[in-house]
Amino acid sequence: MIIAIDGPSGAGKSTVAKAVAKELGFSCLDTGAMYRAVAWRALHDGVSLEDAEALGAIAHNCTINFRHEAGDPVPRRVFVDNVEVTNDIRTAEIDRSVSAVSAVPAVRQALVEQQRRIGMQGNYVVEGRDIGTAVFPEAELKVFLTASAAERAHRRVAQNERRGVGSTDYAEVLADIERRDAIDSSRDTSPLKPAPDAVQMDSTGRTIEQVIERICALAQEKGVHV
Ligand code: DC
Repeated sequence: MIIAIDGPSGAGKSTVAKAVAKELGFSCLDTGAMYRAVAWRALHDGVSLEDAEALGAIAHNCTINFRHEAGDPVPRRVFVDNVEVTNDIRTAEIDRSVSAVSAVPAVRQALVEQQRRIGMQGNYVVEGRDIGTAVFPEAELKVFLTASAAERAHRRVAQNERRGVGSTDYAEVLADIERRDAIDSSRDTSPLKPAPDAVQMDSTGRTIEQVIERICALAQEKGVHV
């Protein structure tokens, strides 16, 4: 079974997806981390973000792996060609570059193929922007999670402070979120939008626990046993 969780940057998808997966005993796939990994490889190799062909080749040829910490069922560590990039893909530089990378059709094609292969392996919570619309249009449960841009910026600043990576300047983070929202929703290939059959949830003013509980309840209605 696939549970698709889509929505804009900072809506709480990652936290929610990981907690729902843990609660239901599902695996979890963070597709944003895969686009970030390709952006990291491109910057690392000195490839221009305007060179769509080279970016497509990177997405096609690089190997992206997720690994678990001992005792943690959620794979939080990210590797590109066996180099750990868990923190390096969360920097402000990657935040600024990743939308350009993810707008390249050849990059999306290569990563969507990998995401489908991974998701076929069992019960997965998959989070991203186009999971319910393009990657797994047949997913049994689709959630489109949103929150106001201001609330998302506050959450992202708090997250960056906790992790010790990325910008902690509210105005800068808000501007980046608004810029990425605009690019992600207006690109030609798989723009960010809810699938017609997605359950829409606005997490503004709700706790993350309330959102997690609601998704788990919906999954149970679809026949998942906890
Ligand atoms: O969720 P995130 O902020 O880590 O995602 C990073 C970027 O990748 C974001 O700008 C949008 C893009 N993305 C995408 O286009 N499709 C996905 N399925 C996941 C992320």
